[in-house]
Order: sequence, then C-alpha cells, then structure tokens
Amino acid sequence: EKGGHEYFMLKEIEEQPEALANTLRGHFTEGRIVLDEQRMSDQDLRDVDKVFVVACGSAYHSGLVAKYAIEHWTRLPVEVELASEFRYRDPVLDRDTLVVAVSQSGETADTLEAVRHAREQKARVLAVCNTNGAQIPRESDAVLYTHAGPEIGVASTKAFLAQIAANYLVGLALAQARGTKYPDEVAREFHELEAMPQAVQQVLGTIDQVRDLGRRLSDSRAVLFLGRHVGFPVALEGALKLKELAYMHAEGFAAGELKHGPIALIEEGLPVVVIMPSPKGRAVLHSKLVSNISEIQARGARTIVIAEEGDETVRPFADELIEVPAVPTLLQPLVSTVPLQVLAAEIARSRGYDVDKPRNLAKSVTVE
Ligand code: F6R
Repeated sequence: EKGGHEYFMLKEIEEQPEALANTLRGHFTEGRIVLDEQRMSDQDLRDVDKVFVVACGSAYHSGLVAKYAIEHWTRLPVEVELASEFRYRDPVLDRDTLVVAVSQSGETADTLEAVRHAREQKARVLAVCNTNGAQIPRESDAVLYTHAGPEIGVASTKAFLAQIAANYLVGLALAQARGTKYPDEVAREFHELEAMPQAVQQVLGTIDQVRDLGRRLSDSRAVLFLGRHVGFPVALEGALKLKELAYMHAEGFAAGELKHGPIALIEEGLPVVVIMPSPKGRAVLHSKLVSNISEIQARGARTIVIAEEGDETVRPFADELIEVPAVPTLLQPLVSTVPLQVLAAEIARSRGYDVDKPRNLAKSVTVE
C-alpha cells in the first residue's frame, strides 16, 4: 500500500505533483475559472467586498499563503483567521463578505462552527475541501474540491499543497468576477499554476539530500524557521510539521521580526532554516534575508537555506543549501514547503517515531 515506501507520508509527499494537477484540472474551461458547486449568483461573487479565510492547522497556513495572491489579484482585503478564534469573536460580516473555509476532512469541528457563525450573519461561505460531500461543503454556498486523494499520514502534505492551489483558484475566480484582472491575465496566472506539478516534481529530486540532513539534525533540541512575505507562512508550516512529527521545539518567525526578540534565541549550533525569496522576484526582501542569515550565522547558528537554484549570493552563508526551481514569487510556497515536509519526516523517523501516526493527534479533529 505504501508503494514501497517506509511510511505513507513519504508516498504522499511524492504524490504532490499529481495532487496539484488533479486539483487544477477542469477549473479553467472556455477561458474562465469555474468552481465545482456554486449555489450563489455570479452577481453575489461580484459584490464581495471582503474575504475571510477560516481554518485550523496546516489549512490555516494555506490561507496565510493565499492572502498574498488574493489581495494582489482582487484588491479585496483578506483576513486569515484560526477557526477556533473566529467563531468566538464578533467578526464584522454581512452578505457581501466571502468566508472561505478550508478543510481537508471537511469535518473539523471549529471550522464547521465558524461556517455556521458566518452564515448566521448572512455571509457567503465557500468551502475548499478534500472530502466529497463532507459536512462543511454541504453547509456552504460554493465549493471547490481539492483532489489530493485520501491522505493517510496524520500530518498534512499533499492536501496542504492542493489547498494552496485551490485557494489561488478562488482568488482568480474573484478577480475574474470583479474584473480586476483581464481574461488573458487570469489565463496566464492559471497556466503558471499548471506548470507547478512539474516544478514540484523537480523538488522531489532533493529528497535524498534532505533525508541525509534530517538524520544529521535528529539530535537537535530545537529548530527555528525564518521566512518573509509568502515564505513566512511556509516557515510556520515547517515548524508545525516538525513539532507534530518529531516532538521537537520548533518555531517559525517572520524574518523582519528577528531583531524584535527571536534573535536572542540564537546560540552555537542551533539549526535555523531560512526560506529565501527569489533574488529576481523580490530583490529587496532577498537582500534583507541575506543580511539576516549572515547575522545569525555570525552568532553561531547552523544555517539551512532553501533558495532558488543559481542563487549564488546566499551560498557563503549557507551551512546547508537546498535548491528549489525558480517559479513566480506567489507560487514559491508550493516548492519551498516540500523539503520542510521531508525534513520533519526524516528527523522523526531517525528518532524512532511513527511518522504516519504521531502521538496525541487525530487525522480529523471533530471534537472541540
Ligand atoms: C497538520 C495537520 C493539521 C490539519 C488541521 C485541519 O499537519 O494535518 O494541522 O491541517 O487539523 O484539518 P482539516 O484540514 O481536516 O480541517
């Protein structure tokens, strides 16, 4: 069943190109982005004036990633919130608010209650879900299914990448409805997404290198993750994977916050994973991160750098360099997350833990 793999999670990591391709398939027809189910009018979609993404765990991180793209493409304000917080607040919602509920299982109790809370206030709800006919899509006004296939490993991998792709489709559907993007621009963005399975396939070529690194890091006490812009939620996701699988203290930070506290944590030998932006796409952010790496390296950190292939400026500061292919800035999380999944799984395996069934965790959190 594991297709010759030691654990399901590695199989599921390798299925990510297919999960992405299957999630995108059929959603661009006759020059338009189409959802799976839409029980709201095109006019309702056009009238949206604010977006909330509500979710838990990795699904929440997929929303944080998508915020950058959705705001950029639609010029709508996007707030991303933990479902367990949203449902107990008094968020400002009305019929022109679109609440995007992201859930692999479609049964997560807090996300479901957030959906109900939103609908009571007349907001429209769009579900992004990996499970056909689950409760969250059933109670939503529109649905976009991720087609990652069943995910057995408790830690989300292929469903997470598929959630990012689906959230991007939501952004493009809104841009199309609002006319903030011309049809040819929507088409171009979609075709860039369509090239991602190939890019992710290429990143899978780093698996052996990352597993070797994981074995060497397995007795670390803590690992920090730094990123900024779309690399920030990737840092949060990398830290979550490591906590849940390797039971290791891990934290993700926005690199710009380093000097506001976290740099005090840096000590000799502490592994710090840095997710670099492209030197071409975001030159200013790139140079700021290069100076962050040199600062933490000077304080003794062991730097593990995820960078675009051919990025020579970063090489002198990288104790370990993991190269990922060049892709458009907003799509970088789809490639840079993959080595972090492999790293967490391999550290966990080296420590003798069950990678597919981490302690204390359930695949579907239907209790509150
Ligand atoms: C982390 C993980 C969890 C889920 C979260 C939400 O690897 O799998 O954090 O992402 O429990 O689950 P769904 O997406 O089913 O609502």
